[in-house]
Amino acid sequence: MDKKAPIGIFDSGVGGLTVAREIIRQIPEERIVYFGDTARLPYGSKSKDNIIRYSRQIIRFLRTKDVKAIVIACNTASAYALETVSKESDIPIIGVINAGARAAAAATRNGKIGVIGTRGTIQSGIYTKVLQELKPSVQVTGKACPLFVPLVEEGLLHDSVTDEIASRYLSDLKGKYIDTLVLGCTHYPLLRSTLRRLLGESVTLVNPAYETAIELRELLLEQGLLHEKRSEDESQEDKYQFFVSDLAEQFTSFATAILPNEVKKTKQIDIETY
Ligand code: DGL
Repeated sequence: MDKKAPIGIFDSGVGGLTVAREIIRQIPEERIVYFGDTARLPYGSKSKDNIIRYSRQIIRFLRTKDVKAIVIACNTASAYALETVSKESDIPIIGVINAGARAAAAATRNGKIGVIGTRGTIQSGIYTKVLQELKPSVQVTGKACPLFVPLVEEGLLHDSVTDEIASRYLSDLKGKYIDTLVLGCTHYPLLRSTLRRLLGESVTLVNPAYETAIELRELLLEQGLLHEKRSEDESQEDKYQFFVSDLAEQFTSFATAILPNEVKKTKQIDIETY
């Protein structure tokens, strides 16, 4: 496998850009092909069977771009599809859940961990399972926060409506004396300052996106796939390519707001044909 080959990253839409942003920050030499399934989002309320079908199609698309590894940036798709699709693949595929769970297990002092995510991620029980495998004594409390995704997508990151909804969601966790909270959804790192203010400094916030970029770097290094040299003559447009299944222009503006570099173009493809 060519070290210069890109990394494929996919998500249900724009949220996975928080994972792409960490990868760009931590391993800036790597090329990226990003796919956001904007025609079929949200994944958080879809069935496991559909998420597996969507993930297989996206992986087939990313393979046409000769990616050397794939990151499932979406927590819901990591929860439902990672186990199945990674068994079918001859290139490494990682999700965001293991890295997030490892960081939370290492961070907790009192063994009480909260996890927030979409309905799908929380109902799958995956964070509880992985956390208890890592540290059997931990008590995990999950809370689905379905309104956070639309609030972020509406740009209401610092708004009294978001504060009110976040306080309601977090009130269930407050009685559990958690000292660590996993932000188990792509969009939630963008609400970090609101969550920090409402929970106080004593609760450690774990961002699986950050931890996943570390895991990816280690994996590429271990497999001899890390692209160490920056190629000077490559334009940002060639280095970072973006594809969606709908609303390409809207995606381009959101991506430019989240990523360190301006995103000039996003291509729309018909994912159902893969
Ligand atoms: N990307 C999804 C996740 O991390 C959130 C958005 C959606 O429900 O599609 O679970």
